[in-house]
Amino acid sequence: MTTVVVIVAAGSGTRLGSTQPKAFVALAGATLLEQSVRGVRGWSRPFSLVVVAPPGWETPARQLLADYGDVTVVTGGETRTDSVRAGLGALPAGTTAVLIHDAARALTPVAVFDRVLDALTSGAQGVVPQIAVVDTLISVDRSSMATGDAVDRSALGAVQTPQGFHAASLIAAYEAIDGDFTDDAAVLRAAGHDVVAVDGDAMSFKITYPADLQRAASVLGGTGGHRVGTAVDVHQFDPGVPLTLAGLAWPGEDGLAGHSDGDVVIHAIVDALLQAAGMGDLGTHFGANRPEFEGANSRVFLAHALTLIRDAGYVVGSVGVQIIAQKPKIGPRRLEAETVLTELVGCPVALSATTSDGLGFTGRGEGVAALATAVLVVV
Ligand code: CTP
Ligand code: MG
Repeated sequence: MTTVVVIVAAGSGTRLGSTQPKAFVALAGATLLEQSVRGVRGWSRPFSLVVVAPPGWETPARQLLADYGDVTVVTGGETRTDSVRAGLGALPAGTTAVLIHDAARALTPVAVFDRVLDALTSGAQGVVPQIAVVDTLISVDRSSMATGDAVDRSALGAVQTPQGFHAASLIAAYEAIDGDFTDDAAVLRAAGHDVVAVDGDAMSFKITYPADLQRAASVLGGTGGHRVGTAVDVHQFDPGVPLTLAGLAWPGEDGLAGHSDGDVVIHAIVDALLQAAGMGDLGTHFGANRPEFEGANSRVFLAHALTLIRDAGYVVGSVGVQIIAQKPKIGPRRLEAETVLTELVGCPVALSATTSDGLGFTGRGEGVAALATAVLVVV
């Protein structure tokens, strides 16, 4: 299947009561739009991404999403139905599966995307994720407030997104309708197609009211909350190069091989920081597709990672690193290294070291490993 995910983010967020459109409301150190795109980017299947932005907000949307890979941003409309139609208009030729997703369901687990696409691959024309309804349901006459018997909720489901469709069927269904529909499955059903359900997820709740935003913020770490990242890096000794370790030069010691200065301590710190921010790892930001960083000093990686993290609304609270190596002896220069690293990261960095009792590659003196833990504070 050639899959496109369309994220509709053009709503105004009236019920949230913010001055800006809902997609641009702050959520745990970023915007709701970034959090929802970040979530979808974690999906392992190949797909292209279309984001439908509120009219006049296309440029800010593109700027916010510049670090999230290729994203086509198009202009939304008055109603959600109009916005989805705009998104469908941007599907690349050859699209066979389209998943329409609400930006407002920013915490949707990628497993739901898997289930929807798997059902499409198995031949469904339309797929909705649904979850069981937990409250008792009754009928209510809104004018008299008289109530009827409880409805059998075991036969009902609450519908979420992403909703998946055979692209050609959904496009044809949208061409045939007029007026407003609450979801895309209803449009497909109006065209006479069946829609099947897969399991949704409680975390796919729609951020509608301020209390929903608070819930999402607390799940993501929330303002004042913390996020933790951990990472290991390993390099082998190369006697032909000078040693740079923990931000210090070590004259007379064997150096470490590596694509840059081989400073495993800083590399592990950068990886832990990026992981804590949910921003991938060294390869994501400094890999083969970023030639401008080729052979760069580890301090350049660190400075760039710190910028990305700050822009995403985090400050680094503290970092701990353990070096696992037979040599060099860290103890005599531990405080010196901590001072340099603390200066570089801009928060307390604690360093410790151990040997591995002569075992393994570090025990044989073949290389150095470093294990870093980073704590970010959400601002
Ligand atoms: N949506 C859209 N275009 C619209 C209206 C809604 O793209 N004209 C999107 C929203 O951005 C959201 C999803 O459809 O991701 C579900 O809509 P809803 O949760 O109702 O968001 P809003 O319409 O923004 O909120 P409200 O109804 O409170 O104004
Ligand atoms: Mg709405």
